[in-house]
Amino acid sequence: MALVTTKQMFADAYAGGYAIGAFNINNMEIIQGIVDAAQETNSPVILQVSSGAIKYARPTYLKKLVEAAVEDTTIDIALHLDHGADFEACKAAIDLGFTSVMIDGSHHDFEENIRVTKEVVEYAHARGVVVEAELGRLAGVEDDVDVSVEDSSYTDPQQVKEFVERTGVDSLAIAIGTSHGAVKFTGEPKLEYGILKEIMELVPNFPLVLHGASSVYPEAVALCNDNGADLKGSKGVPDEMLREANRLGVCKINVDTDLRIAFTGQIRKVFNEKPSEFDPRKFVGPARTEITRLVKHKIINVFGSGK
Ligand code: G3H
Ligand code: 13P
Ligand code: ZN
Repeated sequence: MALVTTKQMFADAYAGGYAIGAFNINNMEIIQGIVDAAQETNSPVILQVSSGAIKYARPTYLKKLVEAAVEDTTIDIALHLDHGADFEACKAAIDLGFTSVMIDGSHHDFEENIRVTKEVVEYAHARGVVVEAELGRLAGVEDDVDVSVEDSSYTDPQQVKEFVERTGVDSLAIAIGTSHGAVKFTGEPKLEYGILKEIMELVPNFPLVLHGASSVYPEAVALCNDNGADLKGSKGVPDEMLREANRLGVCKINVDTDLRIAFTGQIRKVFNEKPSEFDPRKFVGPARTEITRLVKHKIINVFGSGK
């Protein structure tokens, strides 16, 4: 098998009424945990890499680890750049062999977002790579950027059709109330389904992406806190709300925070329960197993992408 783009994945997802999970990767165990779950459920999967992850793991290691995942499995895997900051970041990922890139021009005004997205689309499409862009602005922390609630904004449905037509982009991240990180809502979780419906009517079956879509499961947070963590005020998007977003037209769902919490919980548990343990395989191993359990839950019970 080789890496694939998301083009066919998204077409199949719309035809089948399911969503594809896009999971952030940072090291070997996270990659293996995700890919084992996708293989066991026979599901396509998107492995996505932030600039922070590229800096941390280094480009060559990430590329080779993902190549190993492709060689070791029979499922479709897309390698995606998450939140590419500018043309140069996207170009570097494309040149390295990524099959999909996100150009995040959401902090620019409408015209500049169109300009930079178009520039990336031209470079990417000429090389068989697909592009995700973003309209509207999510709150929360991602990499070095921390967007306050006041600076966030919902996607304006009226702008979507023009943006898609003028840029030629392949998929679009929309802002309907989710945010990055572990604290997504201060009150009850709420998504603006009305905006999603309006967008879908304007661009039927155009691939829409939900960022900041971790569920921040209370039991996973509790495992961390029961073993010495201090995660306060955490709240995510419950599984049933993601199912509804998928039903209304979202076909790519981004998850990072849930992986982080799952990984941390298991490591903390081993440290707490076995203070004499110092073999990294004995604490990173259970973390990898937990990632597989988590991703299988999402694929089977939330996204519906298994075959
Ligand atoms: O959207 C943000 C992702 O959670 C990536 O986070 O930039 O810290 O790797 P990171
Ligand atoms: P979470 O912080 O909700 O996991 O979102 C991740 C994300 O959107 C990566 O682009
Ligand atoms: Zn994101």
